[in-house]
Order: sequence, then structure tokens, then C-alpha cells
Amino acid sequence: MHRRHIVVLTGAGISAESGIPTFRGSGGLWFKYRIEDVATPEAFARDPAMVLDFYNQRRAQLESVQPNQAHKALARLEQGHKVSVVTQNVDDLHERAGSTSVLHLHGQLRRARSTVAPDWTMDIGYGPIRMGDTCPLGSQLRPDVVWFGEPVPAMDEARDVVASADVLLIVGTSLGVYPAAYLAHDAPAGAEIIVVDPEAREERVPGARIFREKAAGRVPLLVAELLENPA
Ligand code: APR
Repeated sequence: MHRRHIVVLTGAGISAESGIPTFRGSGGLWFKYRIEDVATPEAFARDPAMVLDFYNQRRAQLESVQPNQAHKALARLEQGHKVSVVTQNVDDLHERAGSTSVLHLHGQLRRARSTVAPDWTMDIGYGPIRMGDTCPLGSQLRPDVVWFGEPVPAMDEARDVVASADVLLIVGTSLGVYPAAYLAHDAPAGAEIIVVDPEAREERVPGARIFREKAAGRVPLLVAELLENPA
């Protein structure tokens, strides 16, 4: 079977049917919290306890939700193709579904990071980070996520991955946040581009095959199609 390189760019929408709120859809997180209060370095400097609490709540919820059929289908896709997941999500649902190649552009809820040595991170599971929790160098721990205004260290690697795609599958992202959104345009000429999003906007991914449907319904069908049609 001729294996193709399927790159899957995912956003909050793929985890919506697992019960995790998106950011900009109805009930989205940015309708309940102001980004400048909980997701910027300035917010953390101003009120670290508030920022830690915002992520502690999201991390605790993560323990109580499960991967959905979309996450599971993407893991199954590895049986017939090379699959690279590039996600903007900080949840661990792709990994828990069984995907083995997951690149987190915006970090991971389950990891904490030193505030003086950014390369020092640790897996903290679903537990909280509290004021006074320090790294071995004695600095306060912070969530290992990318805040607005911070660089996206994995961006170069992500662009290389997308540049080698035979198929770019974009699931559940508004493609409104940069630089991640640039990836929708980094697929090589001739690559097939497929979008799954109830509110997909044609102009954001010109020439794509668009399914204005929810991920848990459509992604398993696309995976079956990709597994049946190897070349
Ligand atoms: N199936 C597929 N797509 C869905 C579903 C679903 N069940 N429900 C919602 N969506 C779509 C919405 O239509 C929207 O286009 O998912 C997208 C979610 O968009 P956002 O809430 O903007 O989330 P995302 O694109 O991941 O945000 C990017 O912004 O706030 C920052 O760092 C944060 O990683 C995040 C980044």
C-alpha cells in the first residue's frame, strides 16, 4: 500500500464534542474571560494566582473528559499512512486517543515550566500549579503554554511538517490566530486540502474541499476514505 503523509492541523473544535469549550464559538472561553487577564505574560506578572487558577480549572476538567470519535479516527489513520498531528490545542486528547506524532504549537496543559529556565518543563498530570510551587532553581512554576505575545517555538518545525504533506486535513480551527494560521497555506502545490468545520470560511483556505460538519461525524468517514484509497 502506498502510504501518504497526512498532516492534520487541529484546533479547539476537534475537542468540542469531548466537552471542552472552544475559544470563539458560542460558550467560548473568551466570552467568559478576557485574554489580557489570563493568557498573557503581563497577566501572569500582574496576578499570577488568577492565571494559575484559570489553567488549574482547565487542567482539572481535562481529567474528566475523553477523546471523541474524531481523535480516535486520526489515531486509526496511522494504520495505513504516515500521520503528523499539528495541534493548537493544549489538551492531551490526541495522545490519549493513540496518535503517536503530535506537535503542540501552543504548549500543553499537563506540563509546568520554570519561569527562569523556559527549557525546564515537567509533566504534572491533571494537578494544580500553586503559588510557591517552584522549579529546582527556585522559580515559580507556570503553565507550559504559549500566551498571546509570546513566540511559538515549534512553528519552524510545524512549517516543515506541513510542507511535506500529501494531504492537509484542517479540523476545528477558526484560523484566526497567527502564526499558526499561516500553516493552512504551507502545504505543497498538488497537496489535497480538506477542511472540517461547521463554520468553515472558504476565503481562509482557498481551493480546499470543505465539510461544514462537526468533527466527530465527518473525520471518521474521511479516515475510512483515506484508508480505502491509498494512492
Ligand atoms: N467540530 C468541528 N469544528 C468545530 C466544532 C466541532 N464540533 N465546534 C466548533 N468548531 C469550530 C468552530 O466553528 C471554529 O471555527 O472550531 C473552531 C474553533 O475556533 P477557536 O475557538 O478560535 O479555536 P482555535 O482556532 O483553536 O483558536 C486558536 O487561539 O485562543 C487561542 O491559543 C488559543 O489555540 C488557540 C488559538
